[in-house]
Amino acid sequence: MDLFRTKSIEQSIADTDEPEYQLKKSLTALDLTVFGVGVVIGAGIFTLTGRVAHAMTGPAIVISFVLAALACALAAMCYAEFASTVPVSGSAYTFSYASLGELLAWIIGWDLILEMFLGASVVAQGWSAYLGVFLGKVGIVLPEAISYGGVVDLPAVLLVIVLGLLVSIGIKESMRVNMVLVGLKLFIVLFVIIAGIQFVNPANYAPFIPTPVATEASTGWTQPLLQWMTGAAPAAFGVPGIFAGAALVFFAYIGFDVVATAAEETKKPQRDLPIGIIASLVICTVLYCAVALVVTGMVRYDQLDPSAALANAFVNHGQGWMATLISAGAVAGLTTVVLTLMVGATRVIFAMCRDNLLPMGLAKVHPRFRTPWLITAIVTFICAVTAGFTPIGVLESMVNIGTLSAFVLVSLGVPVLRRKRPDLKRAFTVPFSPVVPILSALVCGYLMLNLSLETWVRFLAWLAIGLIIYFAWSRHHSRLQTGIALSPDLEQALRENH
Ligand code: ALA
Repeated sequence: MDLFRTKSIEQSIADTDEPEYQLKKSLTALDLTVFGVGVVIGAGIFTLTGRVAHAMTGPAIVISFVLAALACALAAMCYAEFASTVPVSGSAYTFSYASLGELLAWIIGWDLILEMFLGASVVAQGWSAYLGVFLGKVGIVLPEAISYGGVVDLPAVLLVIVLGLLVSIGIKESMRVNMVLVGLKLFIVLFVIIAGIQFVNPANYAPFIPTPVATEASTGWTQPLLQWMTGAAPAAFGVPGIFAGAALVFFAYIGFDVVATAAEETKKPQRDLPIGIIASLVICTVLYCAVALVVTGMVRYDQLDPSAALANAFVNHGQGWMATLISAGAVAGLTTVVLTLMVGATRVIFAMCRDNLLPMGLAKVHPRFRTPWLITAIVTFICAVTAGFTPIGVLESMVNIGTLSAFVLVSLGVPVLRRKRPDLKRAFTVPFSPVVPILSALVCGYLMLNLSLETWVRFLAWLAIGLIIYFAWSRHHSRLQTGIALSPDLEQALRENH
């Protein structure tokens, strides 16, 4: 059936153009690790830790972080094989078009758009939370209505607009700036751990796994789908809370998949890629667990600040200057995460336009800056509105469900592609396939079941919109179907925008 028509891998490579091939194989396991840590550490640890510990897990959030890391490690292996078999720039969307067929590729692309543009919005909101703490410390208080959690989160909107402008004039994420910001983020996270230890009161760890109770977070539309399906008693905290917490803090790991896409630029992918992925996951997991332990030890979980917990835990102990330092570091560090996610969103949409699954006309290229300005403008507008007007705490779970569903499909795609194209050279192969890919799909699927009923409803609505667009428009206009050529302008832009 033509829904399963696949774009041949050779075609994918031809489309995304040769410069990809000319990339120097220069990255080492260490580069990948730094890169991974830089992309991953963001609003997840800075804002979600407080909120999830407060409402879902208590100090047991540490276990949630470990569970989420396990799911990521499995999915990362699958991602790495995909990325190294289909060596074209892009994302799971590009890889799956070559293996799983057009419909699934569309769904994955649609999920990735959700992941990245909502992810950018969430991190912008987290950035604004820390900006608020920082400004407060230097004596500037924004009116409540236009700050984090207000009627409109103005700082988040402004950040997105400024970054959108930078992206449209073609600013590239420079490796050097990235290194500085990674260093800064690591410093702040380590600072929280080291400076915080002295304020830990072991009494705050009891109970480590609070007794399950029915709360607003575990009843009605906000209860996990699994609880609703099994008819289990409503419970936040306890063991179910740990799983629900894992499904939420999964957000803190999002971005490591970017490492997997660097296969072609890696010196020895079969060795370096898994080392890079696993090392960055291990480093983040250790840091996250340490931060979680320290913060829940400093302040009893039910008194944690759900917005800027890391800085405010220090305020609770009368350490104002430490809070100022942490919030300043967070503001600087989170900026790059928003930028990376916004660029990611434009790239996925750009790739879908190239295949004419979304209108090619959207991929208009700016005559001077040579960037897809129209897509960037649309992404910026949507991110700004979403970050500005969506209540806090709604978006993360949508980001997670979008990402997890893409992971499930990518994991299942690995054995499919092995069967369909055993001949392809794979720079990296998942060990124990199909066991690991299937396990990965199951674990990611299980985390999805732990997301709330309302998240599922919203996600299904998002998918439904995607499918309507696909069947009403994309399927008939797909370049694979129609064979239309790329405009010379777009071709050139593709070359320049990898
Ligand atoms: N992992 C990224 C963050 O925590 C998205 O902000």
